Amino acid sequence: MNKKICVVGLGYIGLPTAAMLANCGYDVVGVDTNKEVLDNLNKGKIIIEEPYLDDLVKKVVINKKLIGLNTPCEADIFIIAVPTPINENKRADMRYVINATNSIVSYVKKGDIVILESTSPVGTTTEIIKPILEKTDLEIGKDIYVGYCPERVLPGKILKELVENHRVVGGINEESAIKIAKIYKSFVKGHIYTTDTKTAEMTKLVENTFRDVNIALSNELLKICDNININVWDVIEYSNKHPRVNLLNPGPGVGGHCLAVDPWFLVESSPNLSNIIKLSRITNDSMPSYMFYSVEKLIKNTNKKITILGITYKPDVDDIRESPIIELIKILKENNYEISIYDPYVKNYPGIENNLMKCVQGSELLIIGVNHNVFKDINYEKVLKAMEGNLILDTRNSLDKEELEKIGFVYKLIGSK
Ligand SMILES: NC(=O)c1ccc[n+]([C@@H]2O[C@H](COP(=O)([O-])OP(=O)(O)OC[C@H]3O[C@@H](n4cnc5c(N)ncnc54)[C@H](O)[C@@H]3O)[C@@H](O)[C@H]2O)c1
Repeated sequence: MNKKICVVGLGYIGLPTAAMLANCGYDVVGVDTNKEVLDNLNKGKIIIEEPYLDDLVKKVVINKKLIGLNTPCEADIFIIAVPTPINENKRADMRYVINATNSIVSYVKKGDIVILESTSPVGTTTEIIKPILEKTDLEIGKDIYVGYCPERVLPGKILKELVENHRVVGGINEESAIKIAKIYKSFVKGHIYTTDTKTAEMTKLVENTFRDVNIALSNELLKICDNININVWDVIEYSNKHPRVNLLNPGPGVGGHCLAVDPWFLVESSPNLSNIIKLSRITNDSMPSYMFYSVEKLIKNTNKKITILGITYKPDVDDIRESPIIELIKILKENNYEISIYDPYVKNYPGIENNLMKCVQGSELLIIGVNHNVFKDINYEKVLKAMEGNLILDTRNSLDKEELEKIGFVYKLIGSK
């Protein structure tokens, strides 16, 4: 094999993909604009939390199968995995994709393959990537093979899911799709479905939208159950006993770089037709305010101190992008609550405290923002002694009510009586 691959963007998606391909025998050059990423990579280190990734990266860097550079270089295959955030108007910000594609143009030669992995609005491959690559004067689909291959991995299980998940490859033509599928077959054990680029782009957006809409329904049910004094968790558990019902968990909102972002790409493309999608986004975005309302029912602010346990958007990861708990903290601070934050996964967030006991000292209320597994092992008896009050608000249904009440906490689970 010994083909050379250039992966542009070495974040949560690009770096594991680069390492996996390097481990399969490809010579991989990873490109990033962030010096810290490159400095660490070339020492065989990573700056993100992802199980087993550090070992894999170390191995392929030592074996000289993966190196980090700050600009692209000649290669046989180019993979683009840069961010695709939304701007303040909830529209796709495609600048990273445009810059990354422009950065490879002078290195792309006849016979090369270019793959976009970034989750993107429908039409990106044909309307953004293709016109930029046409600057090479090579014929797209004949001289250069181009396609879109979205990523579906779950942070925290990325290396496992990279191998096991099924994938969809959209080619700009059939030949491109087949060539791209062949590359992924080097490490993917799941099935690889080939289609056109727009279908693949739409499929990725639909997957995340499905989950966002499902969670929005559960969040709306939580509010309704609160209103009529029913435990939403019981209702969801029993409803899910129906063989064709599968409600996801309600919570303090939806975060991350995917679910909180991607449905907006569909709204942007068809604003008058995407009513449910838009309303779901608004519903999920309303949850931090609703959490604030739950806090106010427990304690009225007289400059009270609240400790937040966990600020990431999901458990056991270090990613705080679009985290609803960050939004809740903002609202609480605006309402003059004193906030202390403990999250063993997050290193660089303003005010984060790495000593739990110091963090809870004098607190009136403990909010479980995220259900990190390590929070189950906390000595809550000790925590209670350090606190001023004895309240816990669990936004994730993650702790044992009876145990906590036994030691003297007043435990409140969102959406329960
Ligand atoms: N994180 C996930 O769980 C996940 C899952 C599926 C799909 N995706 C999608 O994958 C894409 C990448 O997401 P991510 O989470 O890896 O993002 P990330 O922010 O973790 O990483 C992106 C990297 O790209 C680098 N970068 C930006 N512009 C660059 C350029 N012009 N040249 C070289 N490097 C550049 C950044 O410095 C950063 O290190 C997004 O479209 C995202 O929606 C992410």
